[in-house]
Amino acid sequence: MKRVVILASGSGSNAENIFSYFKRGSTAEVVAILTNKKTAKVLERCERLGIPAYYFNREAFSGSDNFVEVIKGLKPDLIVLAGFLWKIPIPLINAFSNKIINIHPALLPKYGGKGMYGNKVHQAVKENSDPETGISIHYVNENYDEGAIIFQAKTRVESSDSVDDIAKKVHQLEYEHFPKVIEKLLT
Ligand code: GAR
Repeated sequence: MKRVVILASGSGSNAENIFSYFKRGSTAEVVAILTNKKTAKVLERCERLGIPAYYFNREAFSGSDNFVEVIKGLKPDLIVLAGFLWKIPIPLINAFSNKIINIHPALLPKYGGKGMYGNKVHQAVKENSDPETGISIHYVNENYDEGAIIFQAKTRVESSDSVDDIAKKVHQLEYEHFPKVIEKLLT
């Protein structure tokens, strides 16, 4: 059984979807979910689903090698960023080379970089009247949203779509593909 550790900053709907997907099979299990936000809804999900959850602050995350040791202790085969908004410190990237992946709610290299997350991305897609958007799953390197792309999927955007409509379409793609891509990387 492969071990997946998830980092999430917000609602955690992807984290829950990944957890539920692997609970049905025998490839992998989500062994822990870590968050940098005490009030994140993902913590309620962890409580309900019985997933070990950990909170950390900025100092613990960036300030020492301790965080790397904590993650190493969880023995992850893959670290998955699912709506996690802080930049990953270089010691963590080096300790888990090619073992940290992120999902971004757009077709990178479009709409990536610092400050581009969640509805801000969908807003930009709408403002530019893009006819399509999608998801990008990529390895994490020292720059926001710039690591090698593993998988992308597209969806159409209608001119009548609101930002929330676009968000819903993108989330559907995430729910459908993210667990499968993780599974593929682990087998
Ligand atoms: C997801 O759409 C994910 O792609 C995005 O945050 C959302 C989290 O939703 N990530 C980013 O924007 C990263 N730059 P969730 O908490 O419900 O899974």
